[in-house]
Amino acid sequence: MYTFIELSKIFEQKFGVRHFPVHTPTLYDPAQYILQLGGKRIRPVCVLMGNELFDEMNPDAYEVATAIELFHNFSLIHDDIMDKAPLRRGMETVHTKYGESTALLAGDVMLVQSYEYLNKIKRDYSQKIMQVFNETAKAVCEGQQLDMDFEKITSVSLDQYVNMITLKTSVLLAASLQLGAILGGAGQGNQQHLYEFGKNLGIAFQVQDDFLDAFGDPDKFGKQVGGDIIANKKTFLMIHAMEVASVQQKIELANLMQNSTIDPAEKINKVLTIFKDCKVDEWALELKEKYVQIALQHLDDTAVLLNRKKPLMELAEYLIQRES
Ligand code: IPE
Ligand code: IPE
Ligand code: MG
Ligand code: MG
Ligand code: MG
Repeated sequence: MYTFIELSKIFEQKFGVRHFPVHTPTLYDPAQYILQLGGKRIRPVCVLMGNELFDEMNPDAYEVATAIELFHNFSLIHDDIMDKAPLRRGMETVHTKYGESTALLAGDVMLVQSYEYLNKIKRDYSQKIMQVFNETAKAVCEGQQLDMDFEKITSVSLDQYVNMITLKTSVLLAASLQLGAILGGAGQGNQQHLYEFGKNLGIAFQVQDDFLDAFGDPDKFGKQVGGDIIANKKTFLMIHAMEVASVQQKIELANLMQNSTIDPAEKINKVLTIFKDCKVDEWALELKEKYVQIALQHLDDTAVLLNRKKPLMELAEYLIQRES
């Protein structure tokens, strides 16, 4: 069995090849560009860990892991267009560098490429794998649509937020682990526990992402700090502030969200001041802790020897402390 760090290195080495033809470089170079910017590769490593939790590595796990990472990068290219994001992994986003039309196509072709990898796996379990993959892909689209719908309304509840981030982010982490478990020969019950572990960990992961978007160190974060504030995203920070802020501050927040002519830096500063007053950092810790505990309970309930679970415990720790 490998540790989390070892699996990341093994995957990185296998993934570091060119995934696209050399012809039509105006399409494929932008696709390759985002892949070589790195990233944490959490999801493919989840596939590998999900497999190794139950059995020795199935060679098909690398194909599925690659498909998952390509799907993730496809979603990032399109997400950056939707979010008008200038930076990704510390560099220009694909649409900023190559234009929106090319970015759309580069994302599309990356999604198709992920199916090419899925198509290589053994027939024994390919139908099940494809079903989990497709259901997840549709859920991600639903979550992304809700995320944008929420930009336009002032009042979003914490439950609606958790549902939205579950769809746009958590289910992919959950499915990555489940796909690995399928490849490792796990039974239904264990697959389900691992899925729930990933889902709840994924919620904590997105909470941390939203926290970093407001309070991250720009040198480490790799994305534009304050991007969610500019876009009026209904993160838990905004939802919590709208609940606990003073009447005056609530009015100010509502006005800031409606003001389309305000200087972005000024908007970010003003919103951050209110967030800090509302102690959103303490709320973030509470929220993350709640979901990590649920996640760990599911890991606990997974019927395998305790020492096999160590890499997943390391992952949980890392994901909620991360700075990028
Ligand atoms: C970014 O995911 C998108 C979210 C769901 C928050 P990651 O933070 O895993 O991005 P990379 O792949 O490491 O860059
Ligand atoms: C994006 O959430 C989730 C997906 C890409 C599906 P965010 O919009 O918060 O992700 P970042 O912060 O841009 O990475
Ligand atoms: Mg985004
Ligand atoms: Mg987004
Ligand atoms: Mg984000």
